[in-house]
Amino acid sequence: MAEPRLLERFLDERRAAARIACDSTLVPAPGQYVMAHDPASDDPLAVPVFSAGDSPDGFFAASPLPRAWTPGVQLSLRGPLGRGFALPTHARRAALAALDAAPAYLLGLLSRALAQGAAVALVCDDPPEELPAEVEIRPLEALEEVAQWADYLALAASRAGWRERVRSGDRLTAPREAQALIVVPMPCGGLAKCGVCSVEVGRENALACEEGPTFDWRF
Ligand code: FES
Repeated sequence: MAEPRLLERFLDERRAAARIACDSTLVPAPGQYVMAHDPASDDPLAVPVFSAGDSPDGFFAASPLPRAWTPGVQLSLRGPLGRGFALPTHARRAALAALDAAPAYLLGLLSRALAQGAAVALVCDDPPEELPAEVEIRPLEALEEVAQWADYLALAASRAGWRERVRSGDRLTAPREAQALIVVPMPCGGLAKCGVCSVEVGRENALACEEGPTFDWRF
């Protein structure tokens, strides 16, 4: 296949920031990422890019992406990297909750959950438009209620949001099977062991780039 290329950018980034064409072997699963870089740019650093769902020729990329990446730009991709979501095949009530991270990080799970006959609730305060009609949209204030309804919960949160909501005394009652994508800066993507992506999970710190960025709820 041709070199990876950004095909399209979207004005409304709630659904996705862009569509990227690439070989299927480079497409990150929901909750995984690729390190992406424009080799023609002066910026030496690659950035982590997450999937917001598959497309026929690659994947939709969740926001944020560098502004300089306009349609047609060729990209160098390394990955897929890290651990992604593992939707249980027996899940029949899937809750996807975007705490303080973009719901786009979770949208790659939609088609998978619907394909296995699960009812799906998307919990967030700024939902994307044009979601499948079967998806129930709930506000974040209903998270506790939805988490008790679900038999699988996928959560996306920033490091601060994760710590505050989940690690504080105001703990969420998670279903037996739950995972959290903790969105943190990952400047080296595991290459240099920089430690910037360190997150507190359970009683220990973990490198999100290698051991996550999607973690099982019970550590
Ligand atoms: S991003 Fe550098 S160690 Fe994880």
